[in-house]
Amino acid sequence: MAAQTLEQIINLCKRRGFIFPGSEIYGGLQGTYDYGPLGVELKNNLKRLWWKHNVYERDDVEGIETAILMNKNVWKYSGHEETFTDPLVDCKTCKGRFREDKLADAPCGLHPKLHPGECEGQLTEPRAFNLMFKTQVGPVADPDSFAYLRPETAQGMFVNFSNVLNSTNRKLPFGIAQIGKSFRNEITPRNFIFRVRELEQMEMEYFVMPGDDERIHEEWIQDHVNWWVNDIGLAREDIQLHEHEKAKLSHYSKRTVDILYKFPTLGFDELEGFANRTDYDLGSHSRSNDTLGLTARVTKNEHSTEKLTYFDHTTNKHVVPFVVEPAAGVDRGCLAALCAAYNEETLENGETRIVLKLKPALAPIKVAILPLKKNEPRIVELAKSIKRTLLAKGDMRAVYDDTAGIGKLYRRQDEVGTPFCVTVDFTSLDDGTVTVRDRDTMAQQRIAIADLWSYVRERI
Ligand code: GAP
Repeated sequence: MAAQTLEQIINLCKRRGFIFPGSEIYGGLQGTYDYGPLGVELKNNLKRLWWKHNVYERDDVEGIETAILMNKNVWKYSGHEETFTDPLVDCKTCKGRFREDKLADAPCGLHPKLHPGECEGQLTEPRAFNLMFKTQVGPVADPDSFAYLRPETAQGMFVNFSNVLNSTNRKLPFGIAQIGKSFRNEITPRNFIFRVRELEQMEMEYFVMPGDDERIHEEWIQDHVNWWVNDIGLAREDIQLHEHEKAKLSHYSKRTVDILYKFPTLGFDELEGFANRTDYDLGSHSRSNDTLGLTARVTKNEHSTEKLTYFDHTTNKHVVPFVVEPAAGVDRGCLAALCAAYNEETLENGETRIVLKLKPALAPIKVAILPLKKNEPRIVELAKSIKRTLLAKGDMRAVYDDTAGIGKLYRRQDEVGTPFCVTVDFTSLDDGTVTVRDRDTMAQQRIAIADLWSYVRERI
């Protein structure tokens, strides 16, 4: 049986060391989470798979990593200072603060079964609340010595457009990809790692000739739906596409489509957004942009030192490329992968087995080596040497564990999604074979230790 509630996932994450509430021993800090020993492996695997698909497997994408702190003008010309806001309302009775457009998701401060506004409390008129965090830069705290923590990784790619173009000699269309932290002072962070204040994003800015944008936008949406299904293991029927209403589009977007995933408890909600950002960003960050014939409405810019244009040799003209942007959350990606993988099964003996059927490439631990007898030195030494050999051959997490009986060790590995458990026993000492147990079928087979590495490699 699949996960019925988010609570089941949250419990597993805490119990087994995937994800913990941030600063927990001091009562926590709302909207922050820490990734534990298994969470960090899952997250790294998800990012690695994204990078492989979007950078390595393509001939038209470069990866970069840009600074979280950026010049204030980035956020002036990106439009974030003015428009990166959510509508905030206060309850005059319980003093709670809520997002006006998400009241239906929030519990009332006094009567948690009701939503704000459904109780006797009176809500204020909404006012725009900017979600960007500020921090001081340098030792002198004057009113201008601040910087924002970036609320999206995208701007690092726009301001480096010419650097990447000139250093790689790319032709349109080409993309710049980045994975990194972003920060949003969400009014009501909630639902575990679904909406947090410190998040990680996997974003791609794909630069195209104006006119090619609509077709390429559609291609990226289809490509990434397939990626979430085939590489990450989400069920196709748990994915929906959501077209944003024209009137509610972000200030930079001509069309936005979201991939929604059916999270337990939350229902269908956003996993990744695809915006057609037109020539807004490169145009907006360009010096003297009023001379560029932009389609987007931007603020005149005399602070930038560059015109972020592309010289088209076929027409001998400078053009401002359009941008198609797939933007996914790493945290939401991890959550979706965990939800999709979670399974509770009733075994023949009536016991319940929790098993994470993660794609092997996502699994935090690929192989667990388990000695059948921990007080038999020859078995222990052989098991440890198998682990060392696997590690020497491949870059993957393999663990040695002798802290419980074999049945308990199997259950523990099932619960964290380890695809293979290798048991070393007396027969192993005699004939150089081990038992390999498959996580999903629980079937066991004996294979030669010499063949173990190729057996595992083929399946992960
Ligand atoms: N550059 C475009 C951009 O940032 P977005 O739709 O605001 O677009 C992209 O964010 C993705 O980042 C979302 O689809 C979501 O997966 C993730 N995300 C956004 N805000 C988040 C938050 N507060 N907590 C967790 N993930 C978030």
